Amino acid sequence: MTAQDFILKSYNTNIEKGSVKWSSPSNIALVKYWGKKEHQIPENPSISFTLSNCKTITELTYTKKEGDDFSFDVYFEGEKNEAFKPKIQTFFERIEQYMPFLRDYHFKIDTENTFPHSSGIASSASGMSALALCLMSVEEELGGDYSNDYFNKKASFLARLGSGSACRSIEGELVVWGANESTESSDLFGIPFDGQVHENFKNYQDTILLVDKGEKQVSSTVGHKLMYGHPFAQQRFSQAHDNLAKLKTVLTSGDLETFVKIVESEALTLHAMMMTSMPYFILMKPNTLDIINRIWKYREEHKSNVCFTLDAGANVHLLYPESEQTAIHEFIETDLAKYCQNEHFIHDFAGKGSQLIKN
Ligand code: PMV
Repeated sequence: MTAQDFILKSYNTNIEKGSVKWSSPSNIALVKYWGKKEHQIPENPSISFTLSNCKTITELTYTKKEGDDFSFDVYFEGEKNEAFKPKIQTFFERIEQYMPFLRDYHFKIDTENTFPHSSGIASSASGMSALALCLMSVEEELGGDYSNDYFNKKASFLARLGSGSACRSIEGELVVWGANESTESSDLFGIPFDGQVHENFKNYQDTILLVDKGEKQVSSTVGHKLMYGHPFAQQRFSQAHDNLAKLKTVLTSGDLETFVKIVESEALTLHAMMMTSMPYFILMKPNTLDIINRIWKYREEHKSNVCFTLDAGANVHLLYPESEQTAIHEFIETDLAKYCQNEHFIHDFAGKGSQLIKN
């Protein structure tokens, strides 16, 4: 498929108003996306677990209007919010060529997250995917008659133009984004992982340890740019291809030991890229390192398969098989919670992706 396939060619101009509502979760990458080309095309492939509990719920109300401007209001948790508007304006500008009806309506975007606002959890993946799904439901209402497959692909295609990693939140439990030789894939949208998944990876658990609930120190826009002219960029991009190929085998065989090695190495590589770029950043906090050391010690002592991954920040995602849930919850409560801000953590697990709430 090419981008041209996502252009809406004609639509019913007689629909006056309506409203739709979707929920869409966050996701956590195992092989990381870090570095992009023009039009939000990733420099390397990535794969993530779609989450379940950490999600955005968005209601989109549309009313026919006069005039040629984009017109929308954003409400966050019931209150009018101006801060989100520039990002949504940019999103509308990027997707307009695929959704020519955007200037015909005034949109009220009513959105809330299930996770606390200042938790340091990036809401762009869940937020942008929820909005893309709502817009797809509007498009369908205006006459698009779509198969589930096309609907999901276009929703993911649009979400990508809002925030790259958002394209991996439409479906679950494992989603690949970025052209590669090992899996069915595209640079334009996320695709559910096409390989067999071993029982060990079903309902995989992710507890997010909130080490730093503050604003992100480096926005991902700035972060991705750090990979332009980065001395290790090409090496890193080819490593991501290798790691995805290895992970594919591991996901099928159920080899947890190798899974742990690939996932932790990916997280540390992401941070190594930030430490070796110009300008350079250290996004881990002392407690991030303490937690990593505690995990390594616990794994050694308990012959456990718990491991960590990190996004572009200080929070730690603790990943573990469902079979270890009771033991790891105890480990978190008795040992790891004290390294979290206000002892705050969120239990989550791999899920099936977005859900239509109202059409
Ligand atoms: O979607 P963005 O542009 O916010 O980039 C997210 C990048 C990481 O979260 C660090 C990695 C990933 O693949 O999700």
